[in-house]
Amino acid sequence: MPDKLIIFDTTLRDGEQSPGASMTREEKIRIAKVLERMKVDVIEAGFPIASPGDFESVKGVAETIKDSTVCGLARALDKDIDRAGEALKGANSSRIHTFIATSPIHMEKKLRMSPDQVLEQAVAAVKRARQHTDNVEFSPEDAGRSELDFLCRIIEAVIDAGATTINIPDTVGYNIPHQFGSLLNNLLTKIPNSDKAIFSVHCHNDLGLAVANSLSAVLNGARQVECTINGLGERAGNASLEEVVMAVRTRQDVFTCDTTLDTTQIVPASRLVAGITGFPVQPNKAIVGANAFAHESGIHQDGVLKNRETYEIMLAEDVGWSENHIILGKHSGRSALKSRLKDLGIEFKSEEGLNQAFARFKDLADKKHEIFDDDLQALVSETTTSFKNEYIKLVSLKVCSETGETPNATLTLNVDGREETADSEGSGVVDAAFKAIEKIVISNAELKLYSVNNITSGTDALGDVTVRLEKSKRVVNGQGADTDIVIASVKSYINALNKLIQANERAHPQL
Ligand code: KIV
Ligand code: ZN
Repeated sequence: MPDKLIIFDTTLRDGEQSPGASMTREEKIRIAKVLERMKVDVIEAGFPIASPGDFESVKGVAETIKDSTVCGLARALDKDIDRAGEALKGANSSRIHTFIATSPIHMEKKLRMSPDQVLEQAVAAVKRARQHTDNVEFSPEDAGRSELDFLCRIIEAVIDAGATTINIPDTVGYNIPHQFGSLLNNLLTKIPNSDKAIFSVHCHNDLGLAVANSLSAVLNGARQVECTINGLGERAGNASLEEVVMAVRTRQDVFTCDTTLDTTQIVPASRLVAGITGFPVQPNKAIVGANAFAHESGIHQDGVLKNRETYEIMLAEDVGWSENHIILGKHSGRSALKSRLKDLGIEFKSEEGLNQAFARFKDLADKKHEIFDDDLQALVSETTTSFKNEYIKLVSLKVCSETGETPNATLTLNVDGREETADSEGSGVVDAAFKAIEKIVISNAELKLYSVNNITSGTDALGDVTVRLEKSKRVVNGQGADTDIVIASVKSYINALNKLIQANERAHPQL
């Protein structure tokens, strides 16, 4: 039996630190459920002290997730640790992750503390965290640029104080694989009580080496990897979960450990995260990119037809690329929809949720002949990202686009129960429609991103639109799907406005 490699997913915490990738509590819970289905061992759900919204999200994930450990981040400060402990109270299994910087530059310039003061604060933080849970992780931030002797000293002390996981972050993505691997090796051999904790790594991708560094650390004894879906994360991102997991699984001839993940959930998780954050996956991205298993050249196609293994090292099905079955049409009933959604791992808590999804499904079936699994995912995504009591609702939209004429849009919105109509011209019909919305709502929010993706192929495909708005440092992502991309765009813009209005929506969570 290979050793267990623990997967610690930080999409909801470090991933959310990607500028613009903010997620609501409900969106975080949806992603956490897919991670749980994937059998991720630890889900870092957020940074509870960062804002009331972050606290509520961690609490919501902690109360929902049963099979994975739910973790909250805290600086090495009593107030942070107690707030994390409070947010995690309802969890089946919880972990507090506390950190303090240990590199000379961070200690001197950022913390303005001596190494001895840092060590003392780290020990106190771990002891405080142990009052809330016996599962405590400690990270010496910027370990990748810290001095080995000091790292050994502080890690030995925090293990004695009760830390059960020691995470070694390459915070600025500065390390090179052989160097990072030997750092792990040195720590494990030099620290006398290293066998009392699991050693973990957390690598950033500034030099494109996050996955390589993580794997090198695993080869040198690390038994937890911190990673994110699609490699989302601060700046250039974190190590991508799908790449780490599939490298270890595919190269069992090299690794003496393996994860216990259900890898067939990888592609659904990737799509969900891309949809919610509005960060699309590049087509040539390993494992989850649209072309990751596509063979273009004739020589390759010929080889694969003769023997798949000539050019394929993994099975597409193993990471969740499904047949994308044609499933339902306009004559399908509510129970057929419910049963197919269940197969896709989607269950509604209330009848109302299912009813809403069914109404949207019938609407779609009128416009689109064949409905695929991906259409259903988008439809459900829209159902769950729209609010029960939406402040702004679309009532009607009419657009006009004619060669040689200025495009214009007329739309009616229901704003808090009152109908209002406006028209506007624009450089295109989408621009005109957005301007008409603003004439009514006057949000003055800044449009940061507008992106359209088709969910399945064909001109009758659902268009999935993401609109990112920013106002007073609040960033929100709206989603909308429709066979008509102008309607999808307007729905997405309205969804973003409703999110901006939601009281607990918050600024970017970095402190
Ligand atoms: O990159 C980093 O150092 C972090 C720590 C909080 C682990 O995200
Ligand atoms: Zn990080």
